[in-house]
Amino acid sequence: MRVTYTDICRRFTECGIENAGGEARILIEEICGEFSSEKDYLCDQLLFAVEKRCTHYPLQYIIGKWWFCRCEFEVNEDCLIPRPDTEIAVEVAQKLMPQNARFADLCTGSGCIAISLLDLRPDTSAVAVELFPKTLELAKRNAERNNVADRFVGVLGDVLSGNVLGDEIFDVIVSNPPYIRSDVVPTLSKEVGFEPLAALDGGEDGMIFYRRIVEAYLENVSYDGCFIFEIGYDQAEDIKAVADNSSLKCEIIKDFGGNDRIAVLRR
Ligand SMILES: C[S@@+](CC[C@H](N)C(=O)[O-])C[C@H]1O[C@@H](n2cnc3c(N)ncnc32)[C@H](O)[C@@H]1O
Repeated sequence: MRVTYTDICRRFTECGIENAGGEARILIEEICGEFSSEKDYLCDQLLFAVEKRCTHYPLQYIIGKWWFCRCEFEVNEDCLIPRPDTEIAVEVAQKLMPQNARFADLCTGSGCIAISLLDLRPDTSAVAVELFPKTLELAKRNAERNNVADRFVGVLGDVLSGNVLGDEIFDVIVSNPPYIRSDVVPTLSKEVGFEPLAALDGGEDGMIFYRRIVEAYLENVSYDGCFIFEIGYDQAEDIKAVADNSSLKCEIIKDFGGNDRIAVLRR
């Protein structure tokens, strides 16, 4: 069966896919290796992908990659899909890190934060921690793919139990941990339902990772250093309380949509 760009847009719109035109274009380009809005494509793989997307399976997992900052990342069901708002964490860390900084990225997932920072700042080096072996392997492949593997050390570990960084001191500890409240997770979009639950669920109040990370890793932050956290749009007051509890100052930075998104905690 032949299919055109317009057919795919129509099918996506029927299925409630928001950015029907943009997604149709990406699928055609990625699967057929070229794009034309006029041409009709004879390609079973494209038809299969369109129907898969109509089940609300994420486009990013279908094409097996996504773009974040200046890099391209392999993505699959083992990792959270990198989000545009997370680029702000990279932007903030890039500005705050001193020359030749050493930083840690806790809960690294695809590795998008650490790898983008290493790409933007060739003077820096990173330790990236992840709980799941398959996800950590993916992050390491992404470090290779973006030519920063020589400055990227992947560590398998549970940031909630003990301290996986030992006694090493870092200029910055950056983290986009799971921060959705457990009761909110089931209400998220169908697409998010295909992403790993362990990448989303931040416990009853969504704050468990921030509390544990600040408690367990403050000694790993240099005297002038800081934590840089991505937070939920409604978590500014809660993260300020976490900072207060450890006598830290807390600065909140907004995202592109004007929502609170990044918290910088320092002494
Ligand atoms: C919200 S995702 C963030 C991924 C990536 N940093 C990003 O910004 O797209 C959180 C990540 O933390 C990992 N994770 C969950 N629990 C963890 C734990 N206890 N210790 C270490 N990593 C954990 C998940 O597997 C997931 O990859």
